[in-house]
Amino acid sequence: MRILSLIKPDIVLFIGDISDGSIKIIKKINLIKIPTFVILGNHDRGKDSTGETLLKQIRVLQEKYCAWDLKIFNNQLNILSARPCSSGGGYYLSNEVKAVYGPISEQESVNKIIKSSEKNIRELPLVLMSHAGPSGLGSDSTSICGKDWKEPSCDWGDRDLAVAISEIQKKRKIDLVIFGHMHNRLKRNQGLRNMFKIDKEGTAYLNSAIVPRYKKNIEGELLVNFSWVEFVDSEISHISHRWYSESGEISEEEILFRNGDF
Ligand SMILES: [Fe+2]
Repeated sequence: MRILSLIKPDIVLFIGDISDGSIKIIKKINLIKIPTFVILGNHDRGKDSTGETLLKQIRVLQEKYCAWDLKIFNNQLNILSARPCSSGGGYYLSNEVKAVYGPISEQESVNKIIKSSEKNIRELPLVLMSHAGPSGLGSDSTSICGKDWKEPSCDWGDRDLAVAISEIQKKRKIDLVIFGHMHNRLKRNQGLRNMFKIDKEGTAYLNSAIVPRYKKNIEGELLVNFSWVEFVDSEISHISHRWYSESGEISEEEILFRNGDF
């Protein structure tokens, strides 16, 4: 986490699959001095159907924890969160999530996301964070949420998230939907996934699941990956995947969006 103090983002978003339920890592996240928001992933449930593993993490994270919620960061950004711990594939509520939240139906999840969005400050950009991305963004294995591990490929996005997005878009712009879960490196030697998309409403979709998040360059130095988003005057001006050296310098960068590109 030391690198965050070198690269100095204004906020940090964790998009889930942080561990397999380790409270130790969650406690480390809690020590980050930069404002931090966390949505947990399917792995974070920790295969504990009592929901206790999940609850422990929620209790440690407190205000940092995001699920079916809207938080306003510093009167600068609306941060809306979707269903926690999603494993994609339409709609599936795991026993762990049921144990914590009760048996929430697909429509109830849609309603919870929309209801949370209603508290947004209209003048501020809206970022929507989810562990798995929405359905409707493509059915190929290379699609931003496409199933790649087995034939036939298909859309593996979350339906509740997609419906909520289209409803919210009727009322205001969603600037960015950020998610992970579907790894950039496809199974069965199918190459790399498309990690970025913009829809006809102007909403940007960013898949941040660069896995693994660490690698070594040819000199043997450790590099760590971050998805990086910048706003200027409440508009997104830059989106990229960056590899940083341990000293906080950008070693490699894949620019996905620059203001004026579209
Ligand atoms: Fe995941």
